[in-house]
Amino acid sequence: MSAQAPQKRLYIKTYGCQMNVYDSERMADILAPLGYAMSPTPQGADLVVLNTCHIREKATEKVYSELGQIRLLKLETQAAGGTMTIVVAGCVAQAEGEEIMRRQPAVDLVVGPQAYHQLPELIARTHRARGERLATDFAAEAKFDALPTERRPTGVTAFLTVQEGCDKFCTFCVVPYTRGGEWSRPADAIEAEARGLAEQGVRELTLLGQNVNAYAGEGGLAALVRRLAAIPGLDRIRYTTSHPRDMDDALIAAHAEVDALMPYLHLPVQSGSDRILKAMNRAHTADSYLRLIGRIRASRPDIAISGDFIVGFPGERDADFEATLQLVGDVDYATAFTFKYSRRPGTPAAALPGQVDEAVKDERLARLNDLINAQARAFNTRQTGRTLPVLFERRGRHEGQLIGRSPYLQAVHVTAPDRLIGQIVPVHIDGAARMSLAGSLVPTRELEAV
Ligand code: 5AD
Ligand code: SF4
Repeated sequence: MSAQAPQKRLYIKTYGCQMNVYDSERMADILAPLGYAMSPTPQGADLVVLNTCHIREKATEKVYSELGQIRLLKLETQAAGGTMTIVVAGCVAQAEGEEIMRRQPAVDLVVGPQAYHQLPELIARTHRARGERLATDFAAEAKFDALPTERRPTGVTAFLTVQEGCDKFCTFCVVPYTRGGEWSRPADAIEAEARGLAEQGVRELTLLGQNVNAYAGEGGLAALVRRLAAIPGLDRIRYTTSHPRDMDDALIAAHAEVDALMPYLHLPVQSGSDRILKAMNRAHTADSYLRLIGRIRASRPDIAISGDFIVGFPGERDADFEATLQLVGDVDYATAFTFKYSRRPGTPAAALPGQVDEAVKDERLARLNDLINAQARAFNTRQTGRTLPVLFERRGRHEGQLIGRSPYLQAVHVTAPDRLIGQIVPVHIDGAARMSLAGSLVPTRELEAV
């Protein structure tokens, strides 16, 4: 299901040269997936773009007088309960951005010719700044938008939302539009809730946020983790999902210093090709991601790294996909989530040329999954023979069996009595599969000998 965004009206006035005519067409193309259709007049337009020319003094003055007229239309629209966004683009914008905003405050946005590909993001930010939500402009089905549903504590583990929204504007993603900007809950409220959960018997807490490591409370996520780790009974803390950009030194250090912080990190990279990463607006390269992983591992050598990948992003060639396989090989993941690129109406990538064939996507997905599955299996196999602390969560499918989690988030199946549910117990790991481990309780005698 991919409903088209509702129609909005776009008026573009072009000044000057052929270059500007071409740019105006490009802007219309970029904005079409957001639901903007061209309107011949500025009256009643939702978005007005003046694509300006700086060549002559007179042309600039013409822009200001036009803006004066459009301001009146904007006021009319507002009086009628509507909104109009005014954008000044082109060479005048480039040359005198601040001056324009000062002389004509009705202008919402000034963009130079280098930034047209960012128009959807910039416009969304402008709307947000006015407190508008764009959620209704998107298909209701937002597959990638939902956080894991928050649970009432059914026992020993619980989720706790600490942050919502996203300011990153990856070009494939609906979240920044549907969920709005990054927003963090106050630490006091989080701590109060966490204490309440601990009092109800929760021992492991997973902090949730679309960009959880962008948590903006004082001291960032690292300070929050340290604060929560001090709550009696809360023995384990996890967080998801993180963005490489927000992985700061304090959080990396916390992985070395805070015992309760579990050695598992979900850090999506999406692709191993710098060309594709750029088109995705990810703001990291394959190399900077690898260096980041190196710093994290220096802090916590045994950490399990997990990721998200998209195959078949528009324009992805064989060589780009090979670069992704190369990066996966370099990182050595404990697990990862893989997706075929899916066109989300209203996102910039939906308008990109070079949409990849479904059959090619399928083939790439299968190859990537094979590699990641092999890595996951190897990661799990490396745990065999070790004794790991396992938090038992519930009964397993077999009589007398319990299921718990290792620090690395693998499910561990163990023959054990019910009374151990809610306890963290040393378990000898006997065997491994792709998704889980099998183990046995360590006899008390042996433990004493350790
Ligand atoms: N197509 C495919 N995968 C997507 N994701 C987000 N948007 C899309 C899309 N349009 C994936 C990303 C993200 C995860 C939650 O979902 O990998 O990290
Ligand atoms: Fe979407 Fe995540 Fe990118 Fe934000 S950081 S735009 S939520 S993929």
